[in-house]
Amino acid sequence: MPTPKPLIAGNWKMNGLRASKGEFEAMIAGATPELVGRADILVCPPVTLLTLFADFAAGSPVSVGAQDTHTETFGAYTGFLSAEMLADAGASAVIVGHSERRAILDETDAMVHAKTLAAWRAGLAAIICVGETRAERDAGTAVSVVERQLAHSVPDGATDDRLVIAYEPIWAIGTGLTPTSADIEYMHGHIRDLLVARFGVEGRGMRILYGGSLKPSNAKEILAIPNVDGGLIGGASLKAADFLAIASAVPAR
Ligand code: PGA
Repeated sequence: MPTPKPLIAGNWKMNGLRASKGEFEAMIAGATPELVGRADILVCPPVTLLTLFADFAAGSPVSVGAQDTHTETFGAYTGFLSAEMLADAGASAVIVGHSERRAILDETDAMVHAKTLAAWRAGLAAIICVGETRAERDAGTAVSVVERQLAHSVPDGATDDRLVIAYEPIWAIGTGLTPTSADIEYMHGHIRDLLVARFGVEGRGMRILYGGSLKPSNAKEILAIPNVDGGLIGGASLKAADFLAIASAVPAR
């Protein structure tokens, strides 16, 4: 079975104004047939820019996504957005369970599970984030933490077109630090084994992204690691030049 087509996904977090549209236009312009032949390209801007960016991206190979969803379809949930609304705004995917939301808003695996089902209900792919803290890595529990997060966050019925896993060690996010290649290879291989054990052959086609201080200078090495099927990129996804440089570092498979 061939390896999954890599995905290069940008997570803009709480960054970006309408004035940022030039960066996004440059990303679209840089998404050459050669580049998109190697990797799918997704940008997840703040929701305020979603429709604008979706309109720009229409007819291009670049997709747009959201950074979170509520679990319900509609109703009295002031300030929240449903997966149906995100799809209506042009999103094709949504990030769920990012560590910043798990930490700041106490999002649990059960909530991530419910949000993933909501994403699927609306026809969105779900990018489920998992990853250990520095203390957990130092204590030798990184693998068991990720195992637990996967077991409880990923719903039954996952398929390779609507489930993406992003392994993001929390201590590597925004810090400039990254795990060793050996540590990344071990964790991604283990996640692959768990996905295959649970979903059979479908698990082989699911993309496992690496996230955490991925940048042009380390992308070539990290994206070449077995079972690293692309990346989830925060800071370096805000500048078209950096984001495209990372995408260009995806090895031809
Ligand atoms: P970073 O963020 O690339 O800025 O480390 C990654 C993420 O949080 O998804």
